[in-house]
Amino acid sequence: MMSNRYKGRSLKTLLDFSRQEIIELLDLAEDLKKKKKSGNEPKPLLGKNVVLLFEKDSTRTRCAFEVGAFDLGMNVTYLGPTGSQMGKKESIKDTARVLGRMYDGIEYRGFSQDTVDILAEYSGVPVWNGLTDSYHPTQILADMMTIREKLGRLEQVKLAYFGDARNNMGNSLMIGSALLGLDFRAVAPRDYWPDALLVERCRAIAASSGAKITLTDDVAIGGSNVDVVYTDVWVSMGEPESAWQARIEKMLPFQVNEKIMTQAGQRAIFMHCLPAFHNLETVIGRSINEKYGINGLEVTNNVFESPQSVVFDEAENRLHTIKAIMYATLADTL
Ligand code: CP
Ligand code: NVA
Repeated sequence: MMSNRYKGRSLKTLLDFSRQEIIELLDLAEDLKKKKKSGNEPKPLLGKNVVLLFEKDSTRTRCAFEVGAFDLGMNVTYLGPTGSQMGKKESIKDTARVLGRMYDGIEYRGFSQDTVDILAEYSGVPVWNGLTDSYHPTQILADMMTIREKLGRLEQVKLAYFGDARNNMGNSLMIGSALLGLDFRAVAPRDYWPDALLVERCRAIAASSGAKITLTDDVAIGGSNVDVVYTDVWVSMGEPESAWQARIEKMLPFQVNEKIMTQAGQRAIFMHCLPAFHNLETVIGRSINEKYGINGLEVTNNVFESPQSVVFDEAENRLHTIKAIMYATLADTL
């Protein structure tokens, strides 16, 4: 049984937890997954209440928090981009103090990382970052769980992240890799590399975890013989539509296609946090196709649908890992 040193803590970024603590959270998620599959789930948080604040859209994160909370016995309130007073008539600081009087935990998805920090400082309850412009820590828990399931280990796993490496996913994958001892390569145009200060901090962590952090704009150097090929959208939520044209020109050499997968090797797995632009079955995918004539953006449909792609296992693991972080930070004992 795990001693509960997690109770009352927030997940603002992965840097809030140590390597050992993250591994224990992954173990807990594995255990919760097994229990759910065997129909043998206790409800250890019966009667607790959590609130989910979403200033941006979501499918996976919202559903994982809702189903996860229900599975653990909790009640949920969802507050979307409109309909609450937060930020418009009431400051984040005041909202935090109100929500902290009613709820046991708060999930926040939105723009500024400062909002997560203020919610955590003033609510007095655990706050879980469900994505900001800067970080996406709950996604990385699911990614690491999936890599461990597929490859049997995390240490020295060669993970090549293609595309916009200075977005929330690039930053958080680099932090997660540094903590857990992976060989992380950001394969991206130079002006899309993660922030230099964050790179420095991750390299300092890597020095003790055995991780490696490489930044390169050479797809052959970064992406040859790797275990994991990872990509994310080229234009993130909150960025203007006008960003697309320049972004497509910059990012096309970093598109994950069959050539990149061949270079990675037959045993490499393909990962993506999703949602992904890989065909013309979305409004934005069709509109990009009409304007720029390309079908499939950050990943081609062939790669997305190939046997090497583990994206839906990864999406499922959002549920188990989000349950683990809620359970660990809310339960009296584990
Ligand atoms: N990966 C992820 O966070 O997906 P959603 O935007 O659907 O929550
Ligand atoms: N970088 C993406 C991640 C979506 C899960 C975005 O912020 O839109």
